[in-house]
Amino acid sequence: MSRQKLSALNSINGTLAFEGDKSISHRAVMFASLAEGTSVLENLSVSHDVQSTAAMFRALGVDAVQQGNTLTITSKGFKNFIEPKAQLDSGNSGTTARLMSGILSHLPFPTTVFGDASLSSRPMKRVINPIREMGAIIEVNDAGTLPITYKPSAALHAITYELPVPSAQVKSAVLLGGLFHNEKTCVIESEQTRNHTEILLNLETLSVDGKTHVFSSSKNFPVSQNYFIPGDISSSTFFIILTLLLKDSALLIKNVSLNPTRTAALTLLQNMGGDIAVQDVKTSSNEQYGNILVRSSNLHNVEIPKSIMPNIIDEIPALAIAGMMAEGEFKLSNAAELRVKESDRISAVVNNLKHLGLRVDEFQDGFSFTGKQNITNASPAFESYDDHRIAMAFSLAAFLMKDGAEVTGFDCIRISNPNFLNQIKELAK
Ligand code: S3P
Repeated sequence: MSRQKLSALNSINGTLAFEGDKSISHRAVMFASLAEGTSVLENLSVSHDVQSTAAMFRALGVDAVQQGNTLTITSKGFKNFIEPKAQLDSGNSGTTARLMSGILSHLPFPTTVFGDASLSSRPMKRVINPIREMGAIIEVNDAGTLPITYKPSAALHAITYELPVPSAQVKSAVLLGGLFHNEKTCVIESEQTRNHTEILLNLETLSVDGKTHVFSSSKNFPVSQNYFIPGDISSSTFFIILTLLLKDSALLIKNVSLNPTRTAALTLLQNMGGDIAVQDVKTSSNEQYGNILVRSSNLHNVEIPKSIMPNIIDEIPALAIAGMMAEGEFKLSNAAELRVKESDRISAVVNNLKHLGLRVDEFQDGFSFTGKQNITNASPAFESYDDHRIAMAFSLAAFLMKDGAEVTGFDCIRISNPNFLNQIKELAK
């Protein structure tokens, strides 16, 4: 188990641009691979998760050449994919495993997807159920966890599906399945989840009785094109919160994704008193991006509305660290989905806060604590639970301790941001 000792930081200052957003990068790799021709993906995510997606398409016969942060994909198109010689490895990536179900179920040969220990314990029935409704033949254990085998089916068809859980991964899996049918597939969601699939594929979206209806069909099948992937807003959040919490700090983050379905954490931090200014908003491949200027601030906790939960879901571990250093009560509820992320993020956050000697209440769908409590354990050892966002959130806590702290299982940060420590070092000079 890797251990990382992290020293206290006084302040951070400077300018940073992040590698491409992970969610957008996964989708750009998928759409460029399905399309016939060559697509150049600029500023692609350097995360291991996105490498898992690219490796899967290479196994299906797609040519994907990486040069720095640019990936050039040349594909003969979905119809010419070849049967992989081995099972397909999804690594730690839930987005890969879930979105690929819409694609693999429509291939004329069998494929099997497996993943690491964490991914193999995460729920997959949420995608298996709708994809089976499309007529797919899927072999899986009773628990509905990886490995999963997709077999060719002659009975595939478009469906209308209302999401039982707010999940962009499930929404996207069904919409990708819809690309293989002339009739329209419709996904209905009552809570807005990230909409990168809709945006990048230009899908028709309607608001009906307060719910969003999204449609896909063969008309939306991707064609080869170039992509510029804006910086990763979820990776940025750790740096935004660290800047807010340290004294005499200022940070300019350039060209970061500002897709409105991903920016609720920024608004929440502004409502907490965070000095955060959004500047120079632009658009690329229909995705908004721009610059964010952050300065040290005194924070106070505010109510976290249920409606923003899908929008802030990946930022919650980092927001808990902001809450810990803010006045008043931090209370999170309606966040049961956190229990089935790369780790059980509710118990991972609660246990690590308790290592500091803090009083924390845990509930089934969240946790609460009072901010600015006395830290009674000055030399805590935080545990990552092999979850990149827990490792980075508690790295922030370590930077804020008088004597720093250790994070065990730190290496899992490679899942989303392998450059995390180098970026911190650069700004702390
Ligand atoms: C993602 C959607 C979210 C998020 C995950 C990436 C995506 O998961 O937590 O990190 O790219 O679609 P759910 O859709 O399962 O909530």
